[in-house]
Amino acid sequence: MITLDHREIERLAARYGSPFYLFDEQRFRHNIERFGKAMRARYEPFLLGYSYKTNYLPAACRLVKELGGYAEVVSRLEYELALRLGYDHCNIIFNGPLKRREDLETAFSGGAIVNMDAMTEVDFLCNWVHRHPGKRPVAGLRINVSLVGADGRSRVQAGLKAGRFGFAGEDLEEAIGKLRSAGVEVVSLHGHASSSDRSVENFRTICRTLSSVRQRYALDRLRYFNVGGGFFGDVPKELIGREVPSFDAYASAIAEELLADSWIREHRPNLVAEPGVSVVADTMSFYTRVHSRKQVSGGKRFVTVDGSVFNVKPTLHPYNMLFRHVPAGESDGGTISCDVVGSTCMEKDVILREVLLKDPRPGDYIEIKGAGAYTIVMTPPFINPAPAIVAPDGGGGFRLLREAQSVEHFLGCYHPQTQT
Ligand SMILES: Cc1ncc(COP(=O)(O)O)c(C=O)c1O
Repeated sequence: MITLDHREIERLAARYGSPFYLFDEQRFRHNIERFGKAMRARYEPFLLGYSYKTNYLPAACRLVKELGGYAEVVSRLEYELALRLGYDHCNIIFNGPLKRREDLETAFSGGAIVNMDAMTEVDFLCNWVHRHPGKRPVAGLRINVSLVGADGRSRVQAGLKAGRFGFAGEDLEEAIGKLRSAGVEVVSLHGHASSSDRSVENFRTICRTLSSVRQRYALDRLRYFNVGGGFFGDVPKELIGREVPSFDAYASAIAEELLADSWIREHRPNLVAEPGVSVVADTMSFYTRVHSRKQVSGGKRFVTVDGSVFNVKPTLHPYNMLFRHVPAGESDGGTISCDVVGSTCMEKDVILREVLLKDPRPGDYIEIKGAGAYTIVMTPPFINPAPAIVAPDGGGGFRLLREAQSVEHFLGCYHPQTQT
C-alpha cells in the first residue's frame, strides 16, 4: 500500500478536503489476480464475481471487468452500475433477497445469472417462461447452508442459529418442483453463507451441501457452482490475533471437495466465487486530521480527528484497525494512551481505542489502513459530508476519483421547493 508523508497528505487535503480516502488500484489488481490464480491452479473453469456491495467504487468495478471478472450485484442500483460500466447482462450475477418484478424481467431477458432467493421469484420465473416461449433463462437457486459445526455451534454471522438466505427443506423441494413443471432448468446453485469465522471448513460445508442438492434433485444441467464470498484476505496477525487462511488454502479445500464428486469431475461446471472484503479491504487508507486533544476527569485522554468511525468501520466492529500516526513535525513530547475519536456527536464514535501515540497535536494526521470494505458504500452524509477519494495517477501525482460531498450535492436530492 502506498505511504504518504505529511507534506503529501497536506497537499491532498488542501486540494480535496480532509478527511479523504486513498485507493491503491495496483493493490486491488494484485488481489484480484492472486485470488483467481489460487483458484485456477486447482480447479478450472473458474469465474470471479466481484461483490459490488463491498465497495462499488466505479474505478474498482471497471478494473474487475478489465481483468475478465463478473459483477456480483444485489440490487437494481448495482445492476445499473454494472451496465453503465459496460458489462453485458451475461456477465452479471444477480443475487440478493429483494429482486422486484421489473428487475427480474430485465435480468432474465438480458441473460444474467439470477440466483433466486424466494418463492416469489420462482413464481415470477415460471410465469416469465410461459410468456417467453423458447427463451432459456439462466436460472439459479440460492441454497440455505447450515454452518453448524461438529461441536453444535453455529458459525453463521453474529452467532445466529440459521441464516435467512436461500432455500432448504420443503421450500427447496417445492421450488424445484415448480421450476421443473414450468420446464425451467436450474443451471446455478449458490451457497454463500456469511460466517463469523471465515474458516476453510465453511467452504467444505458449502461445497458438500451444493453437491448433495445437485445429486438429490438430479440437476444435470448445472453450469455454475457458486460458493459465494466470505474469505479472509491478507490480514496481518496483529489485527485479529491469529493467522488467517491463505487464498491457496481456501482454493485447495474447495477443489478437493468438488473433485471428490464424480459428476463434477466429469462435467466440470464453472466454479464461481464472489470475493469482497478479501480483495478490497486493504486497498484503501483513510487520512484524517487531528483537530484537538483533551483529558477528562479520571485522566482519560482523547484525540479528536475530522473523520468518524462511520468512515472506517460503519459496522462498529470491536477491532482497532491498523494505523499510522503522521506528525506534522518533530516533538519532544511524551507518548500517551488515548482514544482517537471522530467528529460526530456520538460517544460510540471511537475510531481507535486505547492506542499509544507520541505527542499527538493538531495538524498531525492519522492514517487508518484497511478501510476499503463496507466503508464508502455504507457512509451516509451523517453530520459530515462523504469524503473525497483519490488515487495515484501512475505519473507520480494523484487523480480525484470522487469529490467530497458539498452542501449542493446534499441538497440536490431534495425537492427544489423544500431546499431553502
Ligand atoms: C451473496 C454474497 N456474495 C458475496 C459476498 C461478499 O462477502 P465478503 O465480502 O465477505 O467476501 C456477500 C457478503 O455478504 C454476499 O452476501
